[in-house]
Amino acid sequence: MRRQPERSTRARPVRPASLRVGIVGSGAVARHFALGLSGAGARVHIWARRSARARALGAWCPTFAELLAKSDVLLVCVRDEALAEVIEELARAARDSDPVRTLVVLHVSGATPVSVLQPLERQGLAIGKLHPLLSLPKVSPQRAVPVAGTAPKKNALKTAAKAALKNGLPAHYVAQYSAPSSALARRHAKRLVKALGGQYCELSAGHEADYHLAASLVANGALALFAAATSHMQAAGVQGRAYAALLESVAHNLARCTPAQAQTGPIARGDAATVERHWRRLGSRHRSLYRALAEVLLELSPATRAEKQRIARVLARVRHT
Ligand SMILES: NC(=O)c1ccc[n+]([C@@H]2O[C@H](COP(=O)([O-])OP(=O)(O)OC[C@H]3O[C@@H](n4cnc5c(N)ncnc54)[C@H](OP(=O)(O)O)[C@@H]3O)[C@@H](O)[C@H]2O)c1
Repeated sequence: MRRQPERSTRARPVRPASLRVGIVGSGAVARHFALGLSGAGARVHIWARRSARARALGAWCPTFAELLAKSDVLLVCVRDEALAEVIEELARAARDSDPVRTLVVLHVSGATPVSVLQPLERQGLAIGKLHPLLSLPKVSPQRAVPVAGTAPKKNALKTAAKAALKNGLPAHYVAQYSAPSSALARRHAKRLVKALGGQYCELSAGHEADYHLAASLVANGALALFAAATSHMQAAGVQGRAYAALLESVAHNLARCTPAQAQTGPIARGDAATVERHWRRLGSRHRSLYRALAEVLLELSPATRAEKQRIARVLARVRHT
């Protein structure tokens, strides 16, 4: 029987015809939301310290009062350290300008609690956070590909976004609310995620640090490992792109099965000789890194007890060199 081609798990973006989105900031995350949401048909207004960068992303708003008046939902996309100060200023503007009571304000920081927005809740606005579980580097707008798969303006971006839509995993957006705000804020956050063609999920209360730690281990950890492997890629004469595709295949597998089921490589096979060869090629700087990873992989490995012991003996030798 012929196998059916695998269906994409990515949800199709919808056009939020009447959604008015305000954005504070013009950095990587502001750009992601601005390009994605305007590409999906939302009306995007931006306030940022650098007006030229803001103008490249949406309609410029010179004051917070104007931004509040032109938004159904406001995304605060500034650096974590600046959040409290910016929110105090927004709350002052809300007090003086009395925006509509259905306005929802969401921040996008994974590490910061929703409570940082309480000055706005005290002004009668609904609050929450909507964290894009994505790695969004500071590349120029021309080179940025909105991973959530919405159609940006430039042709090259369109092609890249279409490819991501077809093959990639859907971007996840992780939400959290304060209890009094949750119904209205949840409704708006879900609309944004749907517009971006992403997946919506909510973060368990009290586990904010676990959530952010896991994101850091996966995203920053993978990047650190890639950087540690770069000199070996170069020595082998194989391009980094090829290894990036390898990483993509790991992500593909991990979206569908457990780490133990997805495990491949010498430790999964119980191959102590290859582990030893790796160690001989490693610079001394990365031996403790290799050992720490190997210990995690040994716990997952389906190898026999004897094979695991042989590998453990190699790692113990590494420890003493
Ligand atoms: N990058 C990611 O992969 C990622 C993913 C998920 C969530 N996040 C979160 O998203 C938020 C923004 O991160 P980002 O990566 O977009 O940072 P970014 O590229 O450095 O941009 C930060 C923005 O904050 C503005 N800003 C900083 N201090 C300010 C102040 N005192 N008043 C007004 N604006 C100020 C900056 O303005 P200037 O340009 O004028 O300095 C810039 O527009 C952070 O909370 C971060 O944790 C980031």
